[in-house]
Amino acid sequence: MKRIVVQGGTDGMGRATALVCLGRGDAVTVVGRDEAKGKSFLAEAAEIGAEGRASFIRADLSLISENERVIEVVRDAYPVVDALVLCARHYLSRRRETAEGREATFALFYLSRYLLSHGLRERLEKAERPVILNVAGPGSPVGKIHWEDLEFTRAYDGLAAQMQSGKANDLLGAAFADRHGAERTRYVLINPGSVSTSFSGEYDAETQRHIDMMKRVAKPVAAGIAPIVEALYAPPAAPLSALVEGRPMDVRDRSFDVHDARRLDERTRELLGR
Ligand SMILES: NC(=O)c1ccc[n+]([C@@H]2O[C@H](COP(=O)([O-])OP(=O)(O)OC[C@H]3O[C@@H](n4cnc5c(N)ncnc54)[C@H](OP(=O)(O)O)[C@@H]3O)[C@@H](O)[C@H]2O)c1
Repeated sequence: MKRIVVQGGTDGMGRATALVCLGRGDAVTVVGRDEAKGKSFLAEAAEIGAEGRASFIRADLSLISENERVIEVVRDAYPVVDALVLCARHYLSRRRETAEGREATFALFYLSRYLLSHGLRERLEKAERPVILNVAGPGSPVGKIHWEDLEFTRAYDGLAAQMQSGKANDLLGAAFADRHGAERTRYVLINPGSVSTSFSGEYDAETQRHIDMMKRVAKPVAAGIAPIVEALYAPPAAPLSALVEGRPMDVRDRSFDVHDARRLDERTRELLGR
């Protein structure tokens, strides 16, 4: 039985992946903000006879302190973690700071993934074929790291903030593999393509129209999660991989530049005071 943690597992692809894993007999902990969604996940788990293997941690993962708490709860619950699936994101058309003073998109879509990837690494290393699946946006032609203003204190733009975090996750994977590539845990970046999910976010009217259209035309969640489930149960051999709609992408692409990866890793550690 695998022990799987799904960040953003209360909705969309995270939730669907969690249910597939429960159906295969594994133990799954989902993390999300919404109590009602957490309860509904647990009810669905009970319907398939998996109530003893399913759990929900309610947490606002845009807060560093909440990530630290989640890491402790998971460490206490699981001596070994086989897979960490990273799916939480929340689009913000208007800039917002968390109670800890961090720009919220950067905090949730990048910092949380940084903290959980590193914070659960020691538990992952105890598994036979451990894997981190960071579901984000490798291969996207859009987005860049705003080195001079990572948290958009000057000119915030919701799309630019979201796309920057996608690029930051590419570099997170590259830095993780750079530092820990000789160890067991495999890091897989996954771009599922357009998938009709809840598209968690707070949108201005124009972006909302675009999201409504996306929900109509995007592929169903079951198709979107196929590469996630495949990589979870058969992790690639390489320390770092990137999949775009199931197809491998060359990780020598400059999105995974090791110097940029080390630079962002250093900036992140400074910012976290580590
Ligand atoms: N859908 C697409 O077309 C698409 C395309 C490319 C990449 N992706 C990537 O795929 C991943 C999954 O996307 P999705 O569309 O399946 O997600 P989704 O339906 O929008 O669900 C987002 C998840 O994030 C959680 N979440 C949001 N804010 C949170 C917070 N502050 N703290 C904790 N959890 C929070 C939500 O839980 P609560 O509501 O319970 O807080 C929910 O479980 C994302 O990383 C996304 O960037 C998606």
